[in-house]
Amino acid sequence: MSHSYTTGAHSVPAVRDVSLDIGPAEYVAVLGANGSGKSTLVRLINGLLLPSSGEITVNGIGTHDEAGIGTIRESVSVVFQNPDDQIVATSVEDDVAFGPENLGLARDVIRERVAWALESVGLCGLERREPHLLSGGQKQRLAIAGALAMQPHWLVLDEPTSMLDPVGRVEVLDVLEAVADSGRSVIHVTHDLSEAMRASRALVMHEGCIVFDGSPGDLLCATDRLESWSLELSPLLTLAEELRDHGIVVPRAASTPAAIVEALCR
Ligand SMILES: Nc1ncnc2c1ncn2[C@@H]1O[C@H](COP(=O)(O)OP(=O)(O)OP(=O)(O)O)[C@@H](O)[C@H]1O
Ligand SMILES: [Mg+2]
Repeated sequence: MSHSYTTGAHSVPAVRDVSLDIGPAEYVAVLGANGSGKSTLVRLINGLLLPSSGEITVNGIGTHDEAGIGTIRESVSVVFQNPDDQIVATSVEDDVAFGPENLGLARDVIRERVAWALESVGLCGLERREPHLLSGGQKQRLAIAGALAMQPHWLVLDEPTSMLDPVGRVEVLDVLEAVADSGRSVIHVTHDLSEAMRASRALVMHEGCIVFDGSPGDLLCATDRLESWSLELSPLLTLAEELRDHGIVVPRAASTPAAIVEALCR
């Protein structure tokens, strides 16, 4: 499957010859430099864009199938980068109810879904709060609750933490981990290798192609190639690498100070 954008007489290839299968209950991190095609891939997955060649199927339905696009949008919920852009109502609970209401669900089903979604992201008790009064991390968790309320098979997030402070970032990452643990697929687009360490599978996009598809731990071992893909090890991951070079066993998934201290004290 490939996709090119056409602007005037120009055609810009954005996703090239990608062949990919993302199953249920996978936690996939999608990494890559600016312009490598990550957001285009996200838009292709939920049918916002159609591939210029090849096809994408979601639960057996092609994204080109107009009759099936509603079902696809229910199966694939997308959360974008800027939490402010995703607020659609004047209270937290109405915001989360917006998607299920559009599905035409019964009132008590909507109420159940809203309560469950807010509980899943840790926003219980804030039902009546005006969304614009929430912190950045809370707003992004609200956007995730809205996506979860659709009960999607795949939760897709395009750089959901990039506008958040460290506290908000960890709040969102913890929610993603819990969602993945509950058996739903999570596709998390990020620039940050340490965030990707939480996933079970890492994909790297480079100039529209998928150049790595494997475990996040194995990705860290590809040190010579990381630079050519414009991926940088964070100071913490660099420290973990240095410790390993000195014979100290630090698990690949150790991406927090606490996990590295634990490895040192063992
Ligand atoms: N609407 C558009 N029209 C024309 N070209 C586009 C459009 N959107 C993206 N592109 C181009 O397609 C390529 C892939 O862009 P895309 O936004 O998918 O990359 P990305 O990996 O998400 O980048 P970033 O990390 O900056 O978000 C880039 O060359 C970009 O300039
Ligand atoms: Mg993008």
